[in-house]
Amino acid sequence: MHEVSVIFPLSISGNSYGNYPSTQSLDKASGNNITTKYLNFGSYLYLNTYDICGLNTRFYVTLKRGVSLAMGVQICTADDMSARDPIIVTLEGSNSTNIDLTYGINWNLIYNGNSGLTNDPGRLTCGQTQFFCNSKQYMSYRFLVTRKRALANSVQYSEVRLLGFNF
Ligand SMILES: *[C@@H]1O[C@H](CO)[C@@H](O)[C@H](O)[C@H]1NC(C)=O
Ligand SMILES: *[C@@H]1O[C@H](CO)[C@@H](O)[C@H](O)[C@H]1NC(C)=O
Repeated sequence: MHEVSVIFPLSISGNSYGNYPSTQSLDKASGNNITTKYLNFGSYLYLNTYDICGLNTRFYVTLKRGVSLAMGVQICTADDMSARDPIIVTLEGSNSTNIDLTYGINWNLIYNGNSGLTNDPGRLTCGQTQFFCNSKQYMSYRFLVTRKRALANSVQYSEVRLLGFNF
């Protein structure tokens, strides 16, 4: 995989509900630098419950180079707190544009399964690439974390790499 070309984070920087810390923004998950991370609190402080904080946080990317075929995803752990690791993730694809992508219209499920981090590989380490059967090409991809390792105030990862054709 190469650099992610366009990223649209919808949450804003901060230390509360729906926020990411200003130094741990989404671009850190695509810089190919494992020492930096993306962290999102998700519903932190909303229900004040650590079982769901960070879950269902997501991002989407539109590749400038055009349509591509995703066949695998690899996720790398951050520097600390293994409880925040993604354990179950989804990858979806779409050919829609701007506003539909933002509002989550027309995302098609490509993968729903293990992150490759079920057995903790350690900090600052990439998990096993999860390969999947997919023959549909898309312009945009959405990555979502639906389960984390344990109780924590957030979900975090240092890299997400999409593999396939034309990444
Ligand atoms: C990775 O990020 C760290 C922290 O910002 C920085 O010090 C380091 O130079 C970066 N490494 C590369 C290869 O860019
Ligand atoms: C998405 O658009 C590309 C480019 O037009 C096309 O090749 C591909 O088949 C489309 N994907 C789906 C699932 O329709």
